[in-house]
Amino acid sequence: MNTKVVRIKEEEKTRETLEKNPGLLEAAEILKNGGLVAFPTETVYGLGANALNEEAAKKIYAAKGRPSDNPLIAHISCMEELPAIVKEIPEAGRKLAEKYWPGPLTMIFPKKDIVPYGTTGGLDTVAVRMPVDPVANCLIHLAGVPIAAPSANTSGRPSPTKAEHVIEDMDGKIEMIIDGGAVGIGVESTIVDVSGEIPRLLRPGAVTPEELSSLGVPVTVDPSVTERFEGTPEAPGMKYRHYAPKADMTLVEGDMDKVVAYINEQTKKAEAEGKKVGIICTEESQDMYQGGNLEVIGSREHEETVAHNLFAVLRDFDARKVDCIFSESFSKDQLGQAIMNRLCKAAGYHIVNI
Ligand code: TXA
Ligand code: MG
Repeated sequence: MNTKVVRIKEEEKTRETLEKNPGLLEAAEILKNGGLVAFPTETVYGLGANALNEEAAKKIYAAKGRPSDNPLIAHISCMEELPAIVKEIPEAGRKLAEKYWPGPLTMIFPKKDIVPYGTTGGLDTVAVRMPVDPVANCLIHLAGVPIAAPSANTSGRPSPTKAEHVIEDMDGKIEMIIDGGAVGIGVESTIVDVSGEIPRLLRPGAVTPEELSSLGVPVTVDPSVTERFEGTPEAPGMKYRHYAPKADMTLVEGDMDKVVAYINEQTKKAEAEGKKVGIICTEESQDMYQGGNLEVIGSREHEETVAHNLFAVLRDFDARKVDCIFSESFSKDQLGQAIMNRLCKAAGYHIVNI
């Protein structure tokens, strides 16, 4: 298949201009006809298909190499599109939607029959998100149907935060890629299950637990968010190997000076064995390393920069063909919870505490 890449520039991103953009109109047609289009959102790039068309949803699983019991998120463009796909909107869901939609929050609702099991991985619930990114939001609006969209990476690889990452993984497998430049946030949406008695956080993201509870909505945190989970996780996606770079990765926790000393020592050892070592450091620490191949993930002062660069750094190390990676770690509150959740998974929970 020939994959068409359509570039949308920053100055073209007003709703009025987007609604007339020939590339976006063509993308909407492809989606209506059961095809696949990758598009930017504020979190990561998504791989879209008509969420109400089981055959289209199946194509997503094939393109990603994704296990078919891992459900997809249905994306809508405005609140009016929600009642068509969910059985009820619980009070907590309504409150959270009012505050955080459109935005990087996904909520799980009981599904209506119109949403096929092929989209929900056989579950009676459906995950719904309303992206704020102007390109994503307009594309969903133009398609006129909810759009199922997982992250547009090959299953198991780091999520794509630039169109180049999507091209790497999806070229030749899908009809079109919309290139809207680098995404803003860089980690996937926060997932909250509002289908039960008490809302539950299933995946941490840019909407933090601190922010969720500030609304007076009590939210419990699923154990799989903070620790390695051996049982059956609530969000089926959490059981698969995720975000993994090709190299073995070790996450090092502890006081900054000790962490740097440990990584320097391990790097020396590994290099003596002829290994190519990657180090994930920060603006604050980059001058403290004596060897290895450094990637600066961002600044500790501004954790949003760390989230923004996280997946690109993992992909860069794949391209640089390092044998092992050592990474500094971050605080686990606010956005740090989402960052550490992704880094822990990328490291396969290989964590050294010193
Ligand atoms: O930011 C995002 O959410 C991005 C962009 C493209 O919107 N999408 C994304 O999709 O991250 P994906 O497929 O990579 O992750 C969806 C997660 C999976 O862990 C999946 O298991 C969970 O959501 N999920 C989907 N439907 C669910 C449901 N009904 N119940 C529980 N978990 C569900
Ligand atoms: Mg994903």
